[in-house]
Amino acid sequence: MENLTHKILKAHIIRGEMIPGEPIEIRIDQTLTQDATGTMAYMQFEAMGLPSVKTELSVSYVDHNTLQSGYMNADDHAYLQSVASKYGIVFSKPGNGICHQVHLERFAKPGKTLIGSDSHTPTSSAMGCLAIGAGGLDVAKAMAGYPYRLTMPKVVEVRLIGSLRHGVSSKDIILELLRRLSVKGGVGKVFEYTGDALKTLSVYQRATITNMGAELGATTSIFPSDEKTKEFLEKQGRPEDYRPLQADPQASYDETIEIDLSQLKPMAACPNSPDAVRPITELAGIKVDQVAIGSCTNSGYEDLMKAAMILKGKKVSPHVSLIISPGSRQVLLKLIQSGALQIFIQAGARILECTCGPCIGMGQSPKTEGVSIRTFNRNFYGRSGTLSAKVYLTSPEVAAASAVSGVFTDPSMIAYEDDFAPEPQIIDDGMILYPSRDPDSVEIIRGPNIKPIPQNTAMPSSLSKKVVIKLGDNITTDHIAPAGAEVLPYRSNIEKLSTFVFKNNKPDFYDICQNNHGGIIVAGENYGQGSSREHAALAPMYLGIKAVLCKSFARIHKANLINFGILPLIFENPEDYDKIQEMDTLQLSDLKNLYTQRSLEIYDQTSGQKIRCRVECTDADLDLIMAGGALNYIRQNAS
Ligand code: F3S
Repeated sequence: MENLTHKILKAHIIRGEMIPGEPIEIRIDQTLTQDATGTMAYMQFEAMGLPSVKTELSVSYVDHNTLQSGYMNADDHAYLQSVASKYGIVFSKPGNGICHQVHLERFAKPGKTLIGSDSHTPTSSAMGCLAIGAGGLDVAKAMAGYPYRLTMPKVVEVRLIGSLRHGVSSKDIILELLRRLSVKGGVGKVFEYTGDALKTLSVYQRATITNMGAELGATTSIFPSDEKTKEFLEKQGRPEDYRPLQADPQASYDETIEIDLSQLKPMAACPNSPDAVRPITELAGIKVDQVAIGSCTNSGYEDLMKAAMILKGKKVSPHVSLIISPGSRQVLLKLIQSGALQIFIQAGARILECTCGPCIGMGQSPKTEGVSIRTFNRNFYGRSGTLSAKVYLTSPEVAAASAVSGVFTDPSMIAYEDDFAPEPQIIDDGMILYPSRDPDSVEIIRGPNIKPIPQNTAMPSSLSKKVVIKLGDNITTDHIAPAGAEVLPYRSNIEKLSTFVFKNNKPDFYDICQNNHGGIIVAGENYGQGSSREHAALAPMYLGIKAVLCKSFARIHKANLINFGILPLIFENPEDYDKIQEMDTLQLSDLKNLYTQRSLEIYDQTSGQKIRCRVECTDADLDLIMAGGALNYIRQNAS
């Protein structure tokens, strides 16, 4: 009796046993990239020397860095478009939509495997596709036909019963899970949704849940492919992509969680973590300065229609700035057709293009100490572009109701229409470009912002390095390699990007690394949570970071460290964290012994203490680390 996750993995497994915790390798059918991670991924693919991608489908989206206030982002877009045309990759132009929204609408298929260089790639798992976020180099390798390596996850059944009450949204289902389990609660797990309540949840509603399953640290989250999926694909004009796919009756799971939807209330994740969840009733009366509705979490047609129904005939509070960013051009066209766009404009909303926008700090930063309600998935410190801002994550219903009243407002207390009959979408793929039929004639466009990928050196057998920074728990990739309009244009220019590493924690981090020829990072639990951006490994690598020693790692970031030849070390005894001080010199000896021992004794030359740590890596991972990263390894083994 198999669960759905096992069925899809079994159909794609190349190596390994499906035992939780064991390394497995799977065949990848589809890949996606977005521009902020895509330029590096395609440079890495180019370095592999293949004439075209080997996947069934690879799509390159431009949705993150769409502001063009200088030549940098436009250079990136031109590079991405030309690479796509030459190597057999579909290209979604800037303005066409957010990668996850467009992929769900136009390309995801039940039963397929998808990896994407964006941590919210699991959005597509809303239709029974096994979609996983990965580093750009892993995506490049998948495009080159290499299998994708991951640790076999546990499969957790999330049984949904009952039905959502008026004013309560699927966002509240995932907020409830975050409240119960925390941002570390999904590490090493897939959340598979079952239960009677599924028949009440549309693919868009499911996608909000699978999208934000990333915030649990999960490998992915998945819904079956059923009548709702069929209906969705029919409305998308691609009924041929439907196939029913679900767990066997009585399938077994490693754990089961039950949520009664009828018991849920509207909630918000409070600053600065997606798991700091409280009911809206506890926040009632807090004044709001900004409301932003959009992002890959809540920018589908149904999300925006619910917001429109609340705003209908009303005005946004005078002290609130309301921002709407539709998830795709398809959604925008539908908003025009239904009259919802007019409702937004008449209510006093500002309409942005169909991109990530404020979610990644690309404009619309809140005012100093401003309270911003966002329908997004992340509220990490500084991500909005304003360090002192207080960002709350809610459903579109809470956001719209609060925009009108100017204070946190529970939408379940307001009457509005919330039942939308299924309608066909307006399909227009005019901003999706297919690859050239004559790839030899396509020139790759490399403007001055496209810099070569920096190369790492092989790992020495012993090293002695200073602790250049000591950090606490839950350090995000936003801390390591910040987002925002000032930094993002340099995603293809690691030399420049590295000057921003840890800028908000330690403004002189770059100089410290330069003066000490790199070093070692020490951190607490869940180091590297958040986005899949490999820049959070690549830029530290460029600065000479050779190892990260912490209490635990986030999954994708650990894989990125390995891919770029940085040793991921875990304290055997977490209390030893307190023994190490910043600028201590740590000596790591006989690293080749890691192949046989998977553990290491570090000597702190400053304090004279010894610290034991372990390395949770396979032999194949160690091969990459010792070579100085996956690209070095591939080059060496190709020659
Ligand atoms: Fe974009 Fe934010 Fe999603 S940056 S991909 S909308 S998490």
